[in-house]
Amino acid sequence: MTQGFTLWLTGLSGAGKTTIAVELERELQARGVLVERLDGDTVRQGLTRDLGFSKADRDKNIERVTFVAKLLSRNRVGVIASFISPYREARDNARRETTNFIEVHVATPIETCAARDVKGLYAKAFAGELKDFTGVDDPYEAPLNAEITLHTENETLQESVQTVLDYLEAHNLIPVAEAAVSGD
Ligand code: ADX
Repeated sequence: MTQGFTLWLTGLSGAGKTTIAVELERELQARGVLVERLDGDTVRQGLTRDLGFSKADRDKNIERVTFVAKLLSRNRVGVIASFISPYREARDNARRETTNFIEVHVATPIETCAARDVKGLYAKAFAGELKDFTGVDDPYEAPLNAEITLHTENETLQESVQTVLDYLEAHNLIPVAEAAVSGD
């Protein structure tokens, strides 16, 4: 029986964390892996809806998500958590608390995120209408020892997802894809 794991996607707003997480979830479910996806935008509508974006609130956000990821991952669920999670210490705590923690840095440069500006938030942040926006006037502490770094500006979504799947396979955390099993 496979073990649980915690794939922790960290990166700026608009880096592509959710897009990658959704595709990973689909691929893992197709392989029969039990997965649960936790995403900043949805978790903040429920479990952490009382929180804003001060350092204290972001720390509480990540602390609660870490607790959920801990319960799931120790019970053989593959957790895909996608949060900006800008503070190294909070991510390191998630690493200590959860099972088979894998830090995935979605390392899209801020220029690319701001150019995409899917939610229109960078425009507001640069105009000073939105304060404490990560990467603009609030810190983002990039991982120092991420297990995986995804350079999304140079690769396709499928390539990014494959990098993560390869890692999980190499560490025996998921079954190998059927197509990769030799027929003899
Ligand atoms: S975290 O810093 O606490 O990890 P989280 O990932 O849950 O953040 O939420 C980030 C999302 O909240 C962003 O993608 C964006 O849509 C929204 N958001 C609203 N205000 C801010 C802000 N000041 N900084 C960053 N993201 C913000």
